[in-house]
Amino acid sequence: MAILVCGGAGYIGSHMVAALLEKGEEVVIVDNLQKGHREALLGGKLYVGDLRDRSFLDKVFSENEIDSVIDFAADSLVGESVNEPLKYFENNVGGTVSLLQAMRDHNVKYIVFSSTAATYGEPERIPIMEEDKTFPTNPYGESKLTVEKILKWCDNAYGIKYTALRYFNAAGAHISGNIGEDHSPETHLIPIILEAALGKREKVMIFGDDYDTKDGTCVRDYIHVMDLASAHLLALDRLKMGGESRVYNLGNGEGFSVKEVIEVARKVTGVNIKADMAPRRAGDPAVLIASSEKALEELNWKPKFNSLETIIETAWNWHKNHPKGY
Ligand code: UFG
Repeated sequence: MAILVCGGAGYIGSHMVAALLEKGEEVVIVDNLQKGHREALLGGKLYVGDLRDRSFLDKVFSENEIDSVIDFAADSLVGESVNEPLKYFENNVGGTVSLLQAMRDHNVKYIVFSSTAATYGEPERIPIMEEDKTFPTNPYGESKLTVEKILKWCDNAYGIKYTALRYFNAAGAHISGNIGEDHSPETHLIPIILEAALGKREKVMIFGDDYDTKDGTCVRDYIHVMDLASAHLLALDRLKMGGESRVYNLGNGEGFSVKEVIEVARKVTGVNIKADMAPRRAGDPAVLIASSEKALEELNWKPKFNSLETIIETAWNWHKNHPKGY
């Protein structure tokens, strides 16, 4: 039996494919390669196409014995989603609805869905628990929360069991150094800092130093991409053992400010990375830290790369060896 990974050529998806291959699983990948990279795939059977294309999906499900799905395929830029909400609802919601229709029609009963901390919006308390209020402050988060709700009704009607994993700040790269983060344009903090270390940009702009935090800059919970992948493996196993549908946060439960991240990156790279202050970026909550107690307990998840230094070291290893990306 095969596991279908949608969006498997993207940043997190490609690390998922690597983890599945290491486990000896048969992997089928669907990716439209708009953002993903063929070179990010260390194996598996790739179908290039879009989730919104039902006949394409029928072909994928007919040609392979798929028993479960892990879905990463989505647009994921918060800022862009504010300016182009319909793009996000069409792709993120429409794509997953089409995928669920195909699962229903081909009798596939398990899905692990890539969700986000952006489903919470401005948090009501720290650390954030799964049952806290979800009030997204951008269409990206709204699109993911909408899919979570759709999943609930598909479980109810068709018996499709799901796990929605709400990631905090995914970071780092595969320990082998062969795959890593390659976005264009890059908007995420750690790769931007490392591009500055490589001389690809002059400096890092710190978006706001007047937040109510330890040093005035935003605090985030960085989680290694391989630890995210291991949580998906556990979530899938749990569903296959008869587990009920669930939602879990995935983070390390520790917050680092933008200034702290830059400082650790200076230490790891040995480069005196330049940084300058800039105005706040619209829509950034001051602090986002996960409580991942539920995943640690119920999935028996044990993040292995949980120090920020290790996260940045693995990312640096990738960026240094692939300065132009894939
Ligand atoms: N930042 C800077 N300078 C930069 C880039 C980022 O100061 O050049 C700051 C941001 O303002 C933020 C922090 O670094 O405070 C982290 O920013 P990222 O863009 O790396 O990550 P976000 O926290 O904005 O986004 C992440 C995920 C999104 C998810 C969101 C939930 O990447 O997919 O968390 O709020 F939606």
